[in-house]
Amino acid sequence: MGTLKKVIFDTDPGVDDAMALMLLARCAEVELLGVCTVFGNGHIDTTTRNALFLAERLGLAAGVYRGAGAALDGTVHAPPVHVHGRNALGDIELPPQPGRDVAPQGAHEFIVDTLRRHPGEVSLLAVGPLTNLALALRSAPDIAELAREVVVMGGAFGHHGHSGNVSPFAEANIYCDPVAADEVFAARWPVTIVGLDVTHQTVMSTPYLRALARESGELGALIWEISRVYQAFYRGTGVTDGFYVHDASAVACLLAPALFGTVRSPVAVDTQGETVGRTRLEPAPGAASARPVQTVCVEVDSAGVLELYRERLRVPASDSGG
Ligand code: BDR
Ligand code: CA
Repeated sequence: MGTLKKVIFDTDPGVDDAMALMLLARCAEVELLGVCTVFGNGHIDTTTRNALFLAERLGLAAGVYRGAGAALDGTVHAPPVHVHGRNALGDIELPPQPGRDVAPQGAHEFIVDTLRRHPGEVSLLAVGPLTNLALALRSAPDIAELAREVVVMGGAFGHHGHSGNVSPFAEANIYCDPVAADEVFAARWPVTIVGLDVTHQTVMSTPYLRALARESGELGALIWEISRVYQAFYRGTGVTDGFYVHDASAVACLLAPALFGTVRSPVAVDTQGETVGRTRLEPAPGAASARPVQTVCVEVDSAGVLELYRERLRVPASDSGG
């Protein structure tokens, strides 16, 4: 096998974050260097506890690094308990102690040190509010030149009619810290944005989830359990059977970028007013922009994403005892 892909996973677990981490954990070509936590789907204590629980359950060698509990401007958002449950993992029963401790270093310090230790080699995969990445950039602007790439789940650019999910304009991760997102998109590192334009094109249906539960051993069963509240939420929004694939789509984009069609443009975020949290392509190609050109996913091979997820999580019959 060639060189492993070094990845830092920045996350707010979260049902779909948990599912994304399961996929990463099942990728032999990935060397997961660390799991950084951020507020979002729960308060920072909750998302960090969930990351520790998942790290233990998945047997990850990587440490868990606690990150930001509030947006850069100090805003502490109320967690979306109607989407992910009160414990952000679908209200399943969790062990009283997660079974391992958080790493001594904070998330953004870990990001800075790790990028400096492996210049040009590390992919940052961010599937929550972008506060940790912005804090890392603020404290060490040189890291923008050290990252191999940054893949972000967030935003919505109106393709296929997909705009916001927390407001008519804004997607949740960007809305939670629009200033951080704007700074991350303005930095001179190569960012790929996996927004609602593509994540709302891919749905895990009940039959698909049942197939995972059948074929993927303990993880398939855990996915079924943690996703009951999540699926009920999406039923209420009109997704008749199943739920959109947000964070795992970003993992798929990292592993198999050919599954996505993209456009290239500078990107900015509205940081105030009625449209706060809206992501937009900067003025027409050709017009001057001080910002770097980034990559925005606008098309997806949904069947390919679903197959990739299912295939990576499948436990070979010889290992399943049956
Ligand atoms: C994003 O918001 C969170 O609820 C999900 O985990 C995902 O990262 C989707 O808008
Ligand atoms: Ca998330």
